[in-house]
Amino acid sequence: ARQKVWVSRPLFPEVLARLSEYVDVQAEAVERRHSPEALREHLAGVDAALIGLADPVGAAAVEGNRRLRVIANLAVGYNNLDLPALTRAGILACNTPDVLNETVADYAWALMLGAARRMGAAERWLRAGQWRGGMRFDDWLGFDVHGKTLGILGMGRIGQAIARRAAGFDMHVLYHNRSRLPEPVERECRATLVDKAELLRRADHLILVLPYSRESHHAIGAAELALMKPTAVLVNVARGGIVDDAALAAALREGRLGAAGLDVFEGEPALHADLLRLENVLLSPHIASASADTRRAMATLAADNVLAALGHGPRAGRPPAPLNPEVMKRWS
Ligand code: GLV
Ligand code: GLV
Repeated sequence: ARQKVWVSRPLFPEVLARLSEYVDVQAEAVERRHSPEALREHLAGVDAALIGLADPVGAAAVEGNRRLRVIANLAVGYNNLDLPALTRAGILACNTPDVLNETVADYAWALMLGAARRMGAAERWLRAGQWRGGMRFDDWLGFDVHGKTLGILGMGRIGQAIARRAAGFDMHVLYHNRSRLPEPVERECRATLVDKAELLRRADHLILVLPYSRESHHAIGAAELALMKPTAVLVNVARGGIVDDAALAAALREGRLGAAGLDVFEGEPALHADLLRLENVLLSPHIASASADTRRAMATLAADNVLAALGHGPRAGRPPAPLNPEVMKRWS
């Protein structure tokens, strides 16, 4: 019998077709939230699953599951997965690294520029017909980006792609990261390592690109915001929960921070109510990787992870982006 693969959300037809060349595909036709029980049930009957960030998979979801071999996340971040639990269960977890780096870097810049120049609020004002009432020369004053200091917290591949773009804006680039970049990479990024407090104090624009973990929970809270310039722009394209959204909303409301551009939120799709009311924040619904080319590339990579791990196609036995490849040795 052919192996079975569950796809937890609607996906590009050509990617489903590629999966179907080798396995039986059960793909959800509409976007929906799966309850823990539904998730567990779907995973019980299949050999592999492609899932999204809204699908939390840990010990409870796979308990007693003797069939499931592979969980392929449709994302680079995998804080929705309990990796130690999957490893204990002998289940391979995979993600979609690298194919989205440049697209997410583009989007971080879009949010930085848009928040600094008040594009969301200005567009709302225009659409509301208020321009006809006249506009002062000193209305809509924003913050410059060119020539300023860009801070990057989390200097993985995406952080580096963001840094490389700064040369064209004549920016000074500072970064903070667990480890220092190799010198040639630092030189290419024209980025200087500083400690976190210095990064917060000196950045005119601060972009967060670190993975979410217990250690990065509320990495930006009230104490960190207090170190930042009252004119600074904060951009989060990483994960909700890295920023304390209540503390951020208070800082924006009280003029202790200049502006923010946010693609991710604590408890999304719910948002802190104050963020929805503030004009000096540009909001988007977790779409930093959502270009047509990149979302296709992510879906294709997730499918390739599944097919290769299940022993199909040109990469049989060698999935391109495994997170716990050691479990494959335990498969017979
Ligand atoms: C999106 O947030 C991702 O992790 O790919
Ligand atoms: C996070 O996603 C990173 O690549 O730094």
